[in-house]
Amino acid sequence: MPDFIPLISKEAIYARTREIGKQITMDYKGKDLILVGILKGAFIFMADLCRQISIDHDIDFIGASSYEGTSSTGQIVFTKQPDLEFKDRDILLVEDIVDTGATLCKIVEFVNLLNPKSVNICTLIDKHERRKRKIDVKYACFSLEKGFIVGYGLDYNEKYRNKPAIYDLKI
Ligand code: IMP
Ligand code: MG
Repeated sequence: MPDFIPLISKEAIYARTREIGKQITMDYKGKDLILVGILKGAFIFMADLCRQISIDHDIDFIGASSYEGTSSTGQIVFTKQPDLEFKDRDILLVEDIVDTGATLCKIVEFVNLLNPKSVNICTLIDKHERRKRKIDVKYACFSLEKGFIVGYGLDYNEKYRNKPAIYDLKI
């Protein structure tokens, strides 16, 4: 059984999500916002974040997968296309964690082909050590230097997404 070392409490996640939600509410006033969650990892963060944004907005999801175990395969596979029309709209991509940046790079490239008015990134965790691509993260709830974390949507081989807080995983 792996060790789960508590890293970010559910209270801290709630407080930060609330702050970021308020900021997004101010920044997107008068804009045509679509929150686009990146599946699967962002599903819980997305559900909490959208309820902290008090302006009207649409919700969509893009599915992308790159990980096996604790390292990226480097190959990004799209598992779900968006349902809504992105043309001339303000897209805010909602991610669980930015690691090398490869996944978001591919997704931003794809979204730009749909001619949106703007594309920005909001992530629960911005993890720095292995960054390979320059990614402009507009909103980050938490910063992390390194490690492999699970819980609150984040998985290890599809497990532990249901844990209510975030843990450092020691295998
Ligand atoms: P990137 O393409 O290297 O930036 O990887 C991003 C994706 O890898 C995220 O959307 C996660 O699904 C997964 N990932 C990266 N680091 C972690 C981690 O520490 N725990 C769980 N999943 C991770
Ligand atoms: Mg994952």
